[in-house]
Amino acid sequence: MVTAEQLYEKLKDIQVGNPICKFTQENCELLLPTIRKIEELKRKKNAIILVHNYVAPQIYYSVADYTGDSYGLSKKAKESNADIIVFAAVRFMAETAKILNPEKIVLDPNPNSGCSLSDGITADDVIRLRRQFPKHTFVCYINTTAEVKAQCEVCVTSSNVYTIIEKIPNNKIYFLPDRLMGENVIKYFKARGVKKDIQLWGGTCYVHEEYKPENIDQVRSNFSDVEILVHPECDSSVVAKADYVGSTSQMLNHVRKSKNDSFFLVTECGLTGVLQSEFPQKTFAGSCTLCKYMKSNSLEDILNVLENPSPESTITLDHRTQKLALKCVERMFDFSV
Ligand code: 13P
Ligand code: SF4
Repeated sequence: MVTAEQLYEKLKDIQVGNPICKFTQENCELLLPTIRKIEELKRKKNAIILVHNYVAPQIYYSVADYTGDSYGLSKKAKESNADIIVFAAVRFMAETAKILNPEKIVLDPNPNSGCSLSDGITADDVIRLRRQFPKHTFVCYINTTAEVKAQCEVCVTSSNVYTIIEKIPNNKIYFLPDRLMGENVIKYFKARGVKKDIQLWGGTCYVHEEYKPENIDQVRSNFSDVEILVHPECDSSVVAKADYVGSTSQMLNHVRKSKNDSFFLVTECGLTGVLQSEFPQKTFAGSCTLCKYMKSNSLEDILNVLENPSPESTITLDHRTQKLALKCVERMFDFSV
């Protein structure tokens, strides 16, 4: 189990919010009783905790068994032998864990956490679209509910959206719900001469749509050798200015391997925090945007859900939805090998 000193060592270089505030050794000591109780319950109940890269660093660096992007964490959930999977992220990620490993108890410590993408489309919308576009293969981003996945053929994440859509034999694709990610795929294919008729739903991520090309220009003019990394949920005018485009874990790994000294991560703040902790001597430029859904996870909620899981925090899926959604998510793994 992490000690207050070890936790402080991980958190001390992370700057939170604006005006900048930082974790102190005292903060870390105050967190320790809750962390200790969580670790005890994990052992007693044979539970694991999966934590997305955007979740608050005091969770990321204390009780997480695995951290990662939505693809990596789904894989961990699928392969897990634990009896209980606590998923500190957002609802659709916890649902995906249940789709992939239905025998396990999957707990969402933050049951009201939405996501502007997954909240923007329903299964009935997809049923209607399928009547309108009967010849299209329906590809859904993982940021969708289990019911929406159950109506689609192939699931993708930000780490594999370009490669999987290219591999799908049908040239007619309906991609949902992220319009901006879909436009990025269309532009990428066009530039490489890949011919696909791609129809899009109109959803957006409220965090990533905020970034504008001027933000990139400003950072480039202030930091001459800055490397710009962009998440594919951003507008294509922003992606066009990127040095690297990838999922949250792909961006982290890119920085870990880069020889550059300054970076701008055009995504949620969590990634910058992880990298400030790992590379305190490097510069992470630009403004920070928070995802209110990811950031509403707390250590107290994780403890409560392990101690006394409520019906709302226990993921349940009807059998038919789970089976259909599993086919859709399994196709992503099949395409990824
Ligand atoms: P990643 O799969 O890249 O972690 O993205 C998830 C997400 O919700 C980004 O906003
Ligand atoms: Fe959803 Fe955007 Fe938050 Fe990711 S950052 S969980 S896409 S609202």
